[in-house]
Amino acid sequence: MVRIAVLGCGRIGRMHAENIAAHPRAELAGVFDVVDAAASSVAATLNATKFASAAEVFGSPEVDAVLIATSTPTHADFIEEAVAAGKPTLCEKPIDLSLARVAACADAIKGTTVPIMLGFVRRFDKGHSGVRQAIEAGQIGELHQVTITSRDPGMAPDAYIETSGGIFRDMTIHDFDMARFIVGEEFKTVNAVGARLVDPVLMERCDDYDTVTVVLTTASGKQCVISNSRRAVYGYDQRVEAFGSEGMAISENQSDGNTRLYAAAYTDQKAPLLNFFIERYAQAFSSEIDAFVEVVEKGAPVPVGFHDGQKALALAEAAILSVREGRPIALSEVE
Ligand SMILES: NC(=O)c1ccc[n+]([C@@H]2O[C@H](COP(=O)([O-])OP(=O)(O)OC[C@H]3O[C@@H](n4cnc5c(N)ncnc54)[C@H](O)[C@@H]3O)[C@@H](O)[C@H]2O)c1
Repeated sequence: MVRIAVLGCGRIGRMHAENIAAHPRAELAGVFDVVDAAASSVAATLNATKFASAAEVFGSPEVDAVLIATSTPTHADFIEEAVAAGKPTLCEKPIDLSLARVAACADAIKGTTVPIMLGFVRRFDKGHSGVRQAIEAGQIGELHQVTITSRDPGMAPDAYIETSGGIFRDMTIHDFDMARFIVGEEFKTVNAVGARLVDPVLMERCDDYDTVTVVLTTASGKQCVISNSRRAVYGYDQRVEAFGSEGMAISENQSDGNTRLYAAAYTDQKAPLLNFFIERYAQAFSSEIDAFVEVVEKGAPVPVGFHDGQKALALAEAAILSVREGRPIALSEVE
């Protein structure tokens, strides 16, 4: 059994702790949160140890690996501590909101053999990864265009938006990683537009956008379009489409049930889309833990790592600059 401790018992840390506790080859080694009530609640529910500090987690011989699900500004420090302690780590995205801090962290852990995996969970979704597999198998010929649609079911609370780092670093970051994963070739240019259509007052105050479109291009001419909105009234809209010389592969939305209804007033009516990320990506979050267990237990290659986190953040920085300056940005301008 791989003994994994969880740092951070908030929204996503609790879910990861449950998935680890339920995993046939993993064991929840314990939890820690600066808010004692959060750690106590998870520890009590899952009958797990509650650690007194992060240092105790990293120093414990009872801990084989660590999952970092704390607030974003703690990630880079914890990655450095994990590497120093020799604990393989799965860290939630993003590594940090600052590209300079990520670069400093990369320097600090340079040459390490301690596996650091990044929580870009969507790579583990069977629908999305099926699109990549179809491309690799040559089923759609030569890849030309990718379209990624990612819309949240509703606006996050004001306090979340205010500290999120902005839509590109907080939300589009998943799609930047998905774009790299699906296309399989690095992007050279980023062209982005942003608008304040859902909550103009909040967006103005935060100097942020709630509606964005990004066009990414590779050196060989492949194109990827990302469409994001902070609010889709019909639910969590998550689709990936790859178009090639010989066909197309699509990863569709998932509904809460497969029944399709037809009547005089409508056609193809289905149950609502699975609500938000914990439900929609339940299979992917579970497969992500599988992959991490393989890394820790069998030394499997890290499927998505620190470098991927750094690349996705660089694309976010380029998108921010593109909106600000109203022009396409070469990735080399920000990296
Ligand atoms: N992969 C995904 O789809 C996804 C989805 C949501 C959130 N996230 C990421 O997961 C992280 C946590 O998000 P959340 O929504 O669970 O936030 P949250 O605020 O609900 O939980 C964060 C928890 O970390 C704790 N914490 C903060 N600093 C700490 C420290 N130094 N030591 C120990 N605990 C500390 C807080 O007390 C809180 O309980 C964020 O980085 C976020 O970007 C990823």
